[in-house]
Amino acid sequence: MDKFVINGGKKLYGKIPISGAKNAAVAIIPAVVLSDEPCEIDNLPKIKDVNVILSILRHMGADVTYVGDDQSRVIIDPRGIISHKVTCNKLVGDMRASYYLLGALLGKFGKAEVPFPGGCSFCERPIDLHLKAFETLGAECRIDISKIILDSEKLSGSDISFDVVSVGATMNAMLAAVKVPGRTTIEKAAKEPHVVDLANFLNSMGANVKGAGTDVIKIRGVERLHGCSYSIIPDQIEAGTYMAAVAATGGNVLIENVIPEHLNSIISRLRATGTVVEVHDDSVRVIREGELGCCKFQTAPHPGFPTDMQPQFVAMLSFASGRSRATESVWESRFSYIPQLQMMGADIFYSGNKAIIYGRQNLTGTGVKALDLRAGAAMVIAGLAAKGTTEISDIKYIERGYEKLVQKLQDVGADIKRVVCKEDTSNDDDDYS
Ligand code: UD1
Repeated sequence: MDKFVINGGKKLYGKIPISGAKNAAVAIIPAVVLSDEPCEIDNLPKIKDVNVILSILRHMGADVTYVGDDQSRVIIDPRGIISHKVTCNKLVGDMRASYYLLGALLGKFGKAEVPFPGGCSFCERPIDLHLKAFETLGAECRIDISKIILDSEKLSGSDISFDVVSVGATMNAMLAAVKVPGRTTIEKAAKEPHVVDLANFLNSMGANVKGAGTDVIKIRGVERLHGCSYSIIPDQIEAGTYMAAVAATGGNVLIENVIPEHLNSIISRLRATGTVVEVHDDSVRVIREGELGCCKFQTAPHPGFPTDMQPQFVAMLSFASGRSRATESVWESRFSYIPQLQMMGADIFYSGNKAIIYGRQNLTGTGVKALDLRAGAAMVIAGLAAKGTTEISDIKYIERGYEKLVQKLQDVGADIKRVVCKEDTSNDDDDYS
């Protein structure tokens, strides 16, 4: 199995450019299905999840053409998509965000058949709220053995109200509703930056979506959506991951191409540890010279502290002086990676949705696993700051969501390399392009 090998203990200095947001890209690409014309999408992150969702669209009949050499800009022509059925089970099962095809196909054809989504399984990930939104719009939802089937006589604008704030359900409801006649409101909507980015993209195609970024999104259905050219926002979580890495190792790094407002909760918690964060127009500088202090944090929907930054912060705080506390409020449990940190010597007690981190400076590298995307990012941070050599296996999870992670870290002085292990016969390297 391919792995990352890190010789830790090096401080990081230089610049890291941030790529386009994964969680925006994996919703915006399926949204193109709703358009009657080609759309050009820029600032695409070059990651496996994007390759997979583009492959799914190709499989459905879309024409996907990269513009330029670096694969960050693509033209998607959805006119060849003539069926509401998605049949590439393996590809759909490879990623969580394939569930956005449900909303997009329901919005386009009034019906959809999509295999069950896959993705990181850090805990139970229900989709009942997505189905509730579709039903509220007038769809009938059925679960077959291996797929989700949506059907409708006629969809009409309605009031959708969630009891839990869900990013995926909010975005899926938007996708389903933009072409539905009448007015739809989504109450208790998620406010994440990628929710706003999807709304902006839909509006660029001619949709009428207002209020994204607040608790209530109002949509006036339009008859058709046209082509557009759109640039995806920078990835808040990728930026936060490198910020936490610098805080863990020490050093001075300019994190470039970010929207600093999206990082407010991360910046606030980093500053609580004594890390200096300077905020500029579209970059932030992270400086950690003295000891890393401890802090308390609790995950919450945006604008709260992102759950997708929780493992990276726990890894970072393992190197702090003093006792830190993490509370996970979004997912029931998301601490299954902690034993991997403990194998490196981290002193963490966890129970239910709380973890107490007794920081220490003497973590030592060893062989660990990336259990999922963000848990894997946490292992990278721990490896960078620990003494000795850390070997991280199952890096396929990390590569789903971080573009050029090894190169970006090498460029700021980290001793990290990707080692190809030839005996690997698993399907990790499927060609999804
Ligand atoms: C998205 C992100 C994921 C992030 C999560 C929370 C993508 C592709 N993934 O996942 O990285 O960790 O937001 O910020 O954008 N819930 C239900 N029923 C549902 C849906 C969700 O009860 O139908 C609950 C979940 O169990 C969880 C909470 O709602 O406790 C939030 O989940 P949600 O925001 O939906 O996560 P995802 O959209 O799947």
